[in-house]
Amino acid sequence: MYEWIKALHVIAVIAWMAGMLYLPRLFVYHCEAKAGSGQSETFKVMERRLLQAIINPAMIVTWLAGLYLAWAGHWFSAPWLHGKLVLVVVLSGVHGFFSRWVNDFAADRNARTKRFYRIINEVPTILMAGIVILVIVKPF
Ligand code: HEM
Repeated sequence: MYEWIKALHVIAVIAWMAGMLYLPRLFVYHCEAKAGSGQSETFKVMERRLLQAIINPAMIVTWLAGLYLAWAGHWFSAPWLHGKLVLVVVLSGVHGFFSRWVNDFAADRNARTKRFYRIINEVPTILMAGIVILVIVKPF
């Protein structure tokens, strides 16, 4: 059972991360589209679907499966898991901001620049690298 849930966890992690890496890219392109243009409306649909159909459910499955693994594997006292949880909570917070920005674009009230989204684009990558190193290497 543990191995099956771990497989589910990794599948959900991949879907969550794929969305978290792609969504800020869409924001960068969306900044270049004029509000009210056909292109801008297409980006709104792409962003909403990516968030609602992939990113949100994938995050929920990642959390549920991850918490099960922590409980079933008696990992809650392991320091590497504490570090991992800190990074995952930050990643979930970034997810919350992405969700807010999808709403901002949907209402044509984005005020942030392309450069801002380019920089933000790197944050999920850095967090993911830290999370994977903690869970695979378990350095402490
Ligand atoms: C949401 C909260 C999360 C919790 C509570 C959690 C917890 C866990 C636990 C307890 C394991 C099993 C470790 C083992 O058997 O050695 C695991 C495996 C794993 N987790 Fe998470 N995790 C979470 C989120 C994430 C995220 C966001 C990522 C990647 C970005 C991730 C990547 C992985 C990977 C790659 C494995 C497989 C490691 C292996 O087979 O050795 N997890 N997780």
